[in-house]
Amino acid sequence: MSRCLLVSNRLPVAFNSTLNIFTPSSGGLVSAIKGLDSSKVGFDFEWMGIMTDDVDVEKINSLRTTPVGNLPSHPIIVPKKKYDLYYNEYSNNVLWPLLHYERSMVHNSQDGWEAYKEVNQLVADAIVQEARDDDTIWVHDFQLFLVPGLVKDKRPNLKLGFFLHIPFPSSEIFRELPQRKEIISSLIRCDLVGFHDLSYLNHFRSSVQRVLGEIPSNDRMWGVYPISIDSQHFLDLRNKPETLEFIHKYKENKKEMKWILGVDRLDYIKGLLLKLQTFKEFLKRFPEERGKVQLVQIVIPSRTEVPEYQDLKQQIEQLVSSINGQYGTPAYTPIHYLYHSVSEAELSALYQLSEVLHIGSRRDGMNLVSLEYIMSQTEEEPGVVLLSEFTGAHSTLSYAVSINPWNIKDTVIKLREALHHPLSKRKEEIGAMRDFLTHYNSSDWAKVFLRDLVREPVVTDTTLTL
Ligand code: F6P
Repeated sequence: MSRCLLVSNRLPVAFNSTLNIFTPSSGGLVSAIKGLDSSKVGFDFEWMGIMTDDVDVEKINSLRTTPVGNLPSHPIIVPKKKYDLYYNEYSNNVLWPLLHYERSMVHNSQDGWEAYKEVNQLVADAIVQEARDDDTIWVHDFQLFLVPGLVKDKRPNLKLGFFLHIPFPSSEIFRELPQRKEIISSLIRCDLVGFHDLSYLNHFRSSVQRVLGEIPSNDRMWGVYPISIDSQHFLDLRNKPETLEFIHKYKENKKEMKWILGVDRLDYIKGLLLKLQTFKEFLKRFPEERGKVQLVQIVIPSRTEVPEYQDLKQQIEQLVSSINGQYGTPAYTPIHYLYHSVSEAELSALYQLSEVLHIGSRRDGMNLVSLEYIMSQTEEEPGVVLLSEFTGAHSTLSYAVSINPWNIKDTVIKLREALHHPLSKRKEEIGAMRDFLTHYNSSDWAKVFLRDLVREPVVTDTTLTL
């Protein structure tokens, strides 16, 4: 099998300086790549990602010698100060909000941009050094937009694909970016650029046209490849002894209570405040549901050094406590709020026990939580997925209940209906989505992308929709 170098900002583990150990990384990109099955995709994968130079060298070297999960890793060492500017100031404070339509959160930074260029250069150099001529290079996500162009400068014949895990916004937004030309000029040099959704591809195409004044002749090298999850893994998790233990424990407390579940990284794109306001409105509008329905909201810490994320955490916690104060009783806490990640077994138990999953993202590249929830449902008592129309998954999961999270009044009604949705309908809907995901998992996603990358596709839209 030939080798494919997966390249991303993150490796599957991150160094936790408080505990002085490596802990599993979170996020859609990492969970999709971790689930890839080499034999099914037809490539031997190795993973290149960044580690900062404040981590003990011996620890970093241990990553080189001991594969993490089943993949050999190649850490690329970047000075910590440079990394912070590249990651926090440019990637997360400029690109992330702009590409998610959050223009008020964009803080342009020249220092951030300089560091972004330097770190992309370090990553490109590492690829140029590591890659054999017959390797396939697959670069991931917005932190590494400049890598394709920099690699192609030195190794024009290397097969190189790029996948964007977040939305590509309307050209009306993208063209506000001061560095728009550098980014577009790099991406068009790829042999294939993939997006989750056809709308992202169309926006990209119009940005290329507006920024460069023309569409290059290789524009057929852009395609739609919605990501998926390791579906079998989530099916299997349902009956693991640890999962069953959690189910047993929670069932005792839950009794007849209905659960609306939320699982989101702490990020303004996830619409957490809107979701809390919606639940508050639900309790106000339907007093008969008080004491019978709880929101279980897991918030996974993320980008904790960015001030906007710290402010958001405070706002969320204030709102949770004001709703609990207003509608709670000694016997009833309306919102169970957890600010930490949970184990896979606990997550599977929560997925199985919740009557509704509420995804209220303001914008979300794909949203893999909705897919995980579907694969975790039981045949006997499946739940309902309330899914924001501003997620990439919305194009794939046509049996989910579509919501516009900004329309609180309408979402409240849909939430109520979802909680009382007939069992036969739930079985039909979850069943259809589960069948689809069983035949389209993360390995299928990678297989289709890499097939098109190496064989030079003629199709630009491979969107798979139920
Ligand atoms: O696709 C965007 C992504 O890379 C996802 O993996 C994840 O949702 C998020 O960003 C993680 O962000 P970070 O790596 O900054 O924690």
